[in-house]
Amino acid sequence: MDSIRLRPLSRLFLVLSLWIVSVGSSFAQGTAADPSKAGVAPGATAAAAPAAAAGAPTGDAAAIAAGDALFKGNCAQCHAVNEVVVGPALAGITKRRPMSWIIPWVKNSSKLVASGDEYAVKIFNQYQKQQMPSFQLSDAEITSIIAYTTSQEGVKGKEPSNDNSPKAEGDPTATSGGDAADGGKAMNILLIVLVVVLIVLVVTLVIIANIMKDVLRGRKDLDGRDMEVIDQRFDFSKIYKSTAVRGIVGTVFVLAVLYETIQGAMGVGLQQGYQPTQPIAFSHKLHAGEHQINCAYCHTSVYKSKSANIPSPNICMNCHSQIKTESPEIKKIYRAIERKQPIQWVRIHNLPDLAYFNHSQHTQVGGIECQTCHGPIQNMEVVYQYSPLTMGWCINCHRETPLNTKGNGYYDNLVKLHDSENGAVPFTVSSNGGTECSKCHY
Ligand code: HEC
Ligand code: HEC
Ligand code: HEC
Ligand code: HEC
Ligand code: HEC
Ligand code: HEC
Repeated sequence: MDSIRLRPLSRLFLVLSLWIVSVGSSFAQGTAADPSKAGVAPGATAAAAPAAAAGAPTGDAAAIAAGDALFKGNCAQCHAVNEVVVGPALAGITKRRPMSWIIPWVKNSSKLVASGDEYAVKIFNQYQKQQMPSFQLSDAEITSIIAYTTSQEGVKGKEPSNDNSPKAEGDPTATSGGDAADGGKAMNILLIVLVVVLIVLVVTLVIIANIMKDVLRGRKDLDGRDMEVIDQRFDFSKIYKSTAVRGIVGTVFVLAVLYETIQGAMGVGLQQGYQPTQPIAFSHKLHAGEHQINCAYCHTSVYKSKSANIPSPNICMNCHSQIKTESPEIKKIYRAIERKQPIQWVRIHNLPDLAYFNHSQHTQVGGIECQTCHGPIQNMEVVYQYSPLTMGWCINCHRETPLNTKGNGYYDNLVKLHDSENGAVPFTVSSNGGTECSKCHY
């Protein structure tokens, strides 16, 4: 009998495991791309809705994106998907009413009520006979709005009106919507399953290989080379004993420890990115961003004094005595006022006492925008510390920023003197003494 060559067996092994790994990873990639395709495309522009005209709302991404924009433009001041605002929550509307009812309702609800439609009259009475305005939207547009609201059912923190309330429950750093998180969870489960499957496969293959080896050892017709292949072992101790390997591992370890230590030491007292959860889910994105309320409407002293104050509940009540009075978050403001206790906001920016910083000097006199130091506050659902607030950060800006001296007679002689001595460099904050220790330390 011909002697059996075992090399093909080990090669088969290799090919098989490579194949499994590649199939596994391409499968994982495929599903990773999926959620973004199937979910709401966040930045998608509001193209005219190409949705099917009268049928049940289709769930394709373009229709949902168009519905999203239409909903926010027309309906969001009175409706949220998962919450009663002025009108009912729209979650489950397709189960309550067919599209053939919803479309005429949105186009002209009072006509439907006047026609004596039983459901229309009931809901009209239930909402204190408030009339929903009529909308000149096409059937396709209304269908896309409903497709959007259906896609948002049960999703937290997506619509503008209850944007911030769920934030307090969850991770304050999670700025993306719930669907992304769900996608992530599904991915994790998938990966775990894949890993388990791979482990089971490897174990099975090892067992099979051992059984085959045992069978082969029992045969008498094998020559020396075959026996060598069968008895081949992977020698771990050789790797372990190699000085080169030891050297590399040792160096990498020492470097990693050194890097971490230096990073840690540099970061003592540094709180960049600090984003505590606040007692009320107050959103700058909603107030300063979407509703464009001026920063100084709330932070009244920011142009006038050293500190920017945090608004008292009175300022909130200018609006919230009327707006969203039923919201549990707003009720927290009422409770604070009733108990005569301040709202316990968590302080984010905090220089040590040894440093002096003055807001009016920078905002009013220097003309620096809040965003230069605080970042895109108007996009922040929850405020975080954007700048490092280190001494180096202050000094760098003072070295780079030219002083605004125009129309200020106080500076005339100073600037003239500066220009005559070194006219090539601009007259910066630092030229005016802005990097002297005593300007910031007392
Ligand atoms: C000015 C406030 C307002 C606006 C804007 C508004 N609605 Fe309404 N909507 C209501 C009220 C109030 C009701 C409850 C019925 C009533 O009182 O007429 C309602 C009821 C509904 C219902 C029936 C809900 C149910 O549970 O049966 C649907 C569907 C609906 N609105 C869709 C829309 C759509 C779509 C838009 C945007 C194109 C929109 N609404 C804009 C106030 C509004
Ligand atoms: C409707 C009122 C309101 C408006 C408008 C507003 N804020 Fe605030 N701001 C608050 C409240 C309340 C807090 C405390 C709670 C928090 O941190 O979210 C705060 C906190 C902050 C903080 C963090 C303070 C700390 O603890 O260190 C900064 C920075 C800030 N606001 C900047 C801005 C800027 C810049 C704007 C304009 C783009 C602005 N705010 C507009 C009410 C407001
Ligand atoms: C100039 C008007 C104005 C002022 C001042 C104001 N808000 Fe608002 N606030 C609004 C508007 C408008 C909304 C959005 C209402 C909606 O979505 O229907 C809102 C929504 C909210 C919400 C979300 C409520 C929910 O359940 O969806 C919270 C929380 C809130 N404000 C807290 C505050 C706090 C705290 C202050 C004081 C520091 C404050 N607001 C000051 C106008 C104001
Ligand atoms: C030159 C940088 C800079 C600019 C510009 C700036 N801030 Fe600040 N802000 C700071 C620093 C630094 C702190 C921390 C101050 C402290 O801890 O004493 C701070 C703190 C705050 C606080 C917390 C309360 C306080 O005073 O400690 C609020 C609120 C705030 N800033 C709002 C604003 C607003 C609103 C504007 C724009 C009108 C603005 N800031 C512009 C650097 C700046
Ligand atoms: C984004 C740039 C910027 C940053 C960051 C900045 N400053 Fe300034 N600072 C200025 C400008 C511009 C002036 C000059 C204002 C004027 O008087 O016209 C100034 C002036 C000052 C002055 C007065 C200097 C004098 O000559 O009287 C002090 C004190 C000061 N800053 C402290 C600080 C501290 C402390 C920090 C860090 C926590 C800081 N600044 C961060 C831009 C900055
Ligand atoms: C533009 C403002 C500014 C100027 C000018 C300035 N500092 Fe500072 N310095 C700061 C700020 C802000 C901090 C706090 C930074 C932090 O907490 O990381 C600080 C921190 C320090 C600390 C560290 C204190 C500690 O306990 O961590 C020392 C020491 C210091 N400064 C010394 C000096 C000396 C010496 C000079 C003059 C050569 C000087 N500073 C000039 C703003 C300034």
